[in-house]
Amino acid sequence: MLHISNLSKSFGNAPILNGFSYHFRSETTYVLMGANGSGKTTLFNLIGGFMPCDSGEILLDGRRLDRLSPYKIAELGVARTFQDLRLLYDLTVEENLLIALRNKRDENLSYALTGRVPNNVYRESVASMLQRIHLTEERKQKAANISYGQQKLLTLGIALINDFKILLLDEPVAGIQPHYREEIANLLTGIKETVIIIEHDPDFIRKVSKNVLFLNEGSILVEGDYRTLREDRRVQQAYL
Ligand SMILES: Nc1ncnc2c1ncn2[C@@H]1O[C@H](COP(=O)(O)OP(=O)(O)OP(=O)(O)O)[C@@H](O)[C@H]1O
Ligand SMILES: [Mg+2]
Repeated sequence: MLHISNLSKSFGNAPILNGFSYHFRSETTYVLMGANGSGKTTLFNLIGGFMPCDSGEILLDGRRLDRLSPYKIAELGVARTFQDLRLLYDLTVEENLLIALRNKRDENLSYALTGRVPNNVYRESVASMLQRIHLTEERKQKAANISYGQQKLLTLGIALINDFKILLLDEPVAGIQPHYREEIANLLTGIKETVIIIEHDPDFIRKVSKNVLFLNEGSILVEGDYRTLREDRRVQQAYL
């Protein structure tokens, strides 16, 4: 499905990913753990084409992704959220979803800016996504004015609104209330496509996946369920 081999990336003299190799299977949810600064977000940036790798290969269903543009990679089926959310804060919740709809992007941008929402697009995609992320009542509010937990749900809706093969989530529940954590976990357990989630929260990890990967010094050091990782001496040492 997503096949990564020998991926390397340095910033200046600091190697961040160092011969990273992993084969992500289809229809599987993974959690990616690792200390602060170990390169988790960098891995997502490389997969999504947001920065070039130094060497290595990324293949999605046999097709090479590395060196393609982020837009092209998204079109091929890689969806993601960002650690720093990146919402359009002056626009409403539903406008943020409309603009995210691929193919209709320019059309929808003009609709959003003029305040006219096209019925068909709205009915088919946005309304059902608003329900799925529990934001129907907030649809007319500016993204800046909803709670942080709701903003995280909105970023998830933006990532989910187009078809995808693989979903990359960068800390989807960090810093949010238990209530929203639960809603996000429920939403994710209903997704059948491959999902890779960067997250630290133990309860959340145990709920969403048995496939936890531990990134250390630029490659996967340990792999197993959350308990296996927690009890692994090498993992404990890496967090000291
Ligand atoms: N564009 C960049 N230019 C220079 N250095 C960078 C860049 N992006 C990341 N780094 C550095 O690479 C290292 C890994 O960063 P990265 O954001 O991938 O870590 P992370 O595992 O996601 O950490 P966190 O848990 O804090 O989110 C850090 O030392 C970071 O400062
Ligand atoms: Mg990060």
